[in-house]
Amino acid sequence: MNEMSLSTTPPGLSNYLHEIEAALSAAVQFDADCPDRLREAMQYSLLAPGKRLRPQLVLMACELCDGDTQAAMPAAVAVEMIHAYSLVHDDLPAMDDDDLRRGRPTCHKQFDEATATLVGDALQARAFEILARDVQPPECAARCCCELGRAVGATMLVGGQAADLASEFQQCSLAELEAIHRRKTGALFRVSLRLGAMIADASDGQLAALDDYGDNLGLAFQVIDDLLDVSGSEDHMGKRLGKDAHKGKNTYPAILGIESSQALAEKLIENASVSLGIFGDRAGPLRELALFVRQRNT
Ligand code: IPE
Ligand code: IPE
Ligand code: MG
Ligand code: MG
Ligand code: MG
Repeated sequence: MNEMSLSTTPPGLSNYLHEIEAALSAAVQFDADCPDRLREAMQYSLLAPGKRLRPQLVLMACELCDGDTQAAMPAAVAVEMIHAYSLVHDDLPAMDDDDLRRGRPTCHKQFDEATATLVGDALQARAFEILARDVQPPECAARCCCELGRAVGATMLVGGQAADLASEFQQCSLAELEAIHRRKTGALFRVSLRLGAMIADASDGQLAALDDYGDNLGLAFQVIDDLLDVSGSEDHMGKRLGKDAHKGKNTYPAILGIESSQALAEKLIENASVSLGIFGDRAGPLRELALFVRQRNT
């Protein structure tokens, strides 16, 4: 696997990528005693080439609501740290048991299972530390911590992951599958937008529109992830494919078929774009990001 064959977000989609990379890198430097192996493994997983979609959503939502994107950078870093932790744990043998991620050996393959477990723990803790410390004013930081905690906790991301595992080789209805996808993947997309908007002191109307966009985009993202597991390229995706059927996962293509899943993804992306109506042309970058998600092969 050649890392360079992983095409991540195309240039021009976001002006923020360099700043996001720099902020992520700074977030895993420690002034106090962090064991070398743990720090190295955290950096290995967090700084590996990913699309950085969630931090971009934070910053785009903030900008769209006339906020200062620099003030939202801690939230952008926090959501990517949560995402990276969720991937490290998702790949563990006790979960999806994968050996390739972002074009590299998974964290537990490169290091070991105990280290990978601890990397997830530490990335998650660090995300909340940064959010609580660096978002201003402190009341806004507290609201952000509360929203992020709910979105990634037992009822949402972690609950969705638990339901995903419990449904392996079990019959699942479309409604149940939709609920799993909304929780395990959609919730982090939605909260990323909400944090950016909250830091910009968005109106209720702006928040509602971004919620709607995030709900549609988040579900579309996981439907497309399921489709790419069937028909994508391992070189482009940087992870093993064909794993869902092997693990008895419930997926959109397994339940709805490929064509109907593609049609649903198209519809969800269109709905996402329509949700941004109140922002007019200023929502161009979020519309472009939705189109990127629809067309992605990474
Ligand atoms: C992969 O997310 C995990 C899912 C929710 C399907 P991404 O495809 O955004 O992963 P990276 O960050 O680009 O590696
Ligand atoms: C991952 O879903 C969702 C989270 C990590 C929360 P998948 O298990 O489908 O993601 P991939 O396909 O391994 O990237
Ligand atoms: Mg999984
Ligand atoms: Mg997985
Ligand atoms: Mg998948």
